[in-house]
Amino acid sequence: MARLDLVISGGTVITAGDTTRCDVGVRDGRIVALAENLTDAARVVDAKGLFVLPGGIDSHVHLDQPSGEGIVMADGFESGTRSAAAGGTTTVIPFALQLKGSSLRACVTDYHAKARGKAHVDYGFHLIVSDPTPTVLNQELPALFADGCTSFKVFMTYDDLVLSDRQLLEVFAVARRERALVMVHAEGYDAIRFLSDRLESEGKTAPYYHAVSRPEVVEREATHRAISHAELVDVPIMIVHVSGREAMEQIRWARAKGLKVHAETCPQYITLTADDLKGLNMDISGAKYVCSPPPRDTTSQAAIWEGLREGLFDTFSSDHCPFRFDDPMGKLVPKGRTSFRWVPNGIPGVETRMPILWSEGVAKGRISANTFVALTATNHARMYGLYPRKGTIAVGSDADIVLWDPERHETIRQDLLHHDCDYTPWEGFAVKGWPVMTILRGKVIVEDGRVVGSPGDGVFLEREVSPFAAPM
Ligand code: URP
Ligand code: ZN
Ligand code: ZN
Repeated sequence: MARLDLVISGGTVITAGDTTRCDVGVRDGRIVALAENLTDAARVVDAKGLFVLPGGIDSHVHLDQPSGEGIVMADGFESGTRSAAAGGTTTVIPFALQLKGSSLRACVTDYHAKARGKAHVDYGFHLIVSDPTPTVLNQELPALFADGCTSFKVFMTYDDLVLSDRQLLEVFAVARRERALVMVHAEGYDAIRFLSDRLESEGKTAPYYHAVSRPEVVEREATHRAISHAELVDVPIMIVHVSGREAMEQIRWARAKGLKVHAETCPQYITLTADDLKGLNMDISGAKYVCSPPPRDTTSQAAIWEGLREGLFDTFSSDHCPFRFDDPMGKLVPKGRTSFRWVPNGIPGVETRMPILWSEGVAKGRISANTFVALTATNHARMYGLYPRKGTIAVGSDADIVLWDPERHETIRQDLLHHDCDYTPWEGFAVKGWPVMTILRGKVIVEDGRVVGSPGDGVFLEREVSPFAAPM
């Protein structure tokens, strides 16, 4: 065998299906050998005592996304993917968002320009459809799918993004026809508006009331409605950022009927609760935890663990949506805007996703290491048309690998992280298990917490049609 570029030697290789003691041989960015005693390589990395995992795939992140007048995301492609890489993630799929009244194609062109030459890890784009005009539905979406953006997200809430039921049905029908995978943000707009108005009129404006304005019933109703619309059109859907038991029950019910409903959850729903929105200071620090759906309670956390164990959840994503805390238009309620309604929704977490799931899941005996790999890498690749190029350790796959130290203890702190956000919701959270090396297509990009790769290492991925999309 010709000389290899890289050998990872002496580690334990963990995929979604298997745990094997073998070396990994890499040439030209791809895995070319899984064998014992590989030695003839330009670089040999000693992985004794470490786990060798597929690089993480985070299929739900927001980078450099337009977020309302004057509001700027803390992370663009450079810092967001730097943070991803440091957390063991080698592929991200952020969202190219259509602004109402704009062409979706133009928004995607703009998003390519934002990403080009900046990314530390590989990336694809989901689309966000906010204005489903006939041109968007019949011309732009099919053309963008053909260009490798084979999934899109629709929203059932947010002033700038919400689609009516009729629009949801129209968009689902296009997904069925074009074989795209639809991701749904399932929270009911009118119910949230009603509750928010009522809370404000009662003077209940602190960040905690964000959680009160979006109770589980609001998520459950929208989840059911999305499932029903998908059933009408006969299209598979993915319900993203599921927060608790009530939405899960709808998903179980749908699957029992034979409907193709997929599900994602996130670190916030196994580690945070609505009480965190109360913060140390009711008026201020609780805003650090404002995301939608909001974190619930410990009973919901237990339900989510059940779903992770039983396979209800296909993917575990960060929903990294970074807004600065100490910023005039950030999480601190902006001047003159006096209620939770104005706090930008979303929290940073692309770097902490894998350590949190490993520590709370594998280290505490709740899930196996193989399930961890499925939830953080393999299932994302399968769901979004990247498998087997990404998401596994197999001959022929891209050499996207993370070396994982299962014994390493860390305490998550802002100064340890590589994002451009100014806080982490997990400040002080102790974890066991940490990524010690990240490799992207055979190139070491993070080593012992230092980012040694460069912006531009990551490339755009044209994704295949999802095998979970509507059948031909
Ligand atoms: O609060 C959240 N999750 N913000 C991000 C946008 C979204 O809905 O995913
Ligand atoms: Zn969402
Ligand atoms: Zn999101």
